[in-house]
Amino acid sequence: LSMTIRRLRLGLNIDHVATVRNARGGAHPDPLRAALLSKSAGVDSITAHLREDRRHIRDADVAALRNDVGLPLNLEMAPTSEMVAIATKHSPHAVCLVPENREEITTEGGLEVAGLQDRLRPMVKELLAAGSRVSLFIEADIAQLKAAAALGVPVVEFHTGRYCEAKGASRSLELERIRSSAKEAALLGLECHAGHGLAFDNVKPIAAIPEIVELNIGHFLIGEAVFIGLKEAISEMRRLMDEAIAVS
Ligand code: PXP
Repeated sequence: LSMTIRRLRLGLNIDHVATVRNARGGAHPDPLRAALLSKSAGVDSITAHLREDRRHIRDADVAALRNDVGLPLNLEMAPTSEMVAIATKHSPHAVCLVPENREEITTEGGLEVAGLQDRLRPMVKELLAAGSRVSLFIEADIAQLKAAAALGVPVVEFHTGRYCEAKGASRSLELERIRSSAKEAALLGLECHAGHGLAFDNVKPIAAIPEIVELNIGHFLIGEAVFIGLKEAISEMRRLMDEAIAVS
């Protein structure tokens, strides 16, 4: 029996506080205030996605979340020269490179790392040199893992969207795909994170995967905050994650 207690970090994705704020064009609700509240509720980091169209998080939010919260900021962004310039200016704790299509409602899948290696290589180098821990948001897939390892990133984040949307037997298959990819990632020396679509009713099997050390969760927690409050939503997620670790 191993007595090692695995620490599983929870990152709160704050984007949709900004979505609600932007719906009326004013300053309320303020993502910075939500970040400070979530800090007191025990989250380990704040995640924010600066999109090309600035539909939720804006440049001024990035500066405030980076400087005024006192938690590590994980900046999600598309691999573009505009975004790399912003990231190197702020040098957030972490940068997660994600694919971005202008018309999509949300990040629909993982980065095609294998096909983008030449474009990603100088960006990864620049971001690492600026002091950010770089991760790639990928599908749980061996080809993507190998391409990520070849680029020299320290971290990959598995897109859990397909797992969350699948039902019955296909959900088990999706879970198995993430489980086996997490093992492969560890063999390749990559730290594993996971996120997208995670909620109270689907988080535990992902949290129980021993190689995964960080979950980034946004839409569900911000939505649930409407009903039970942000602190309570975070506490309940943390409790479910801890339960999953205890039995894994
Ligand atoms: N991780 C990454 C890399 C993301 O892009 C997102 C948001 O699309 C999340 C985690 C959080 O996803 P959700 O808002 O569905 O919890």
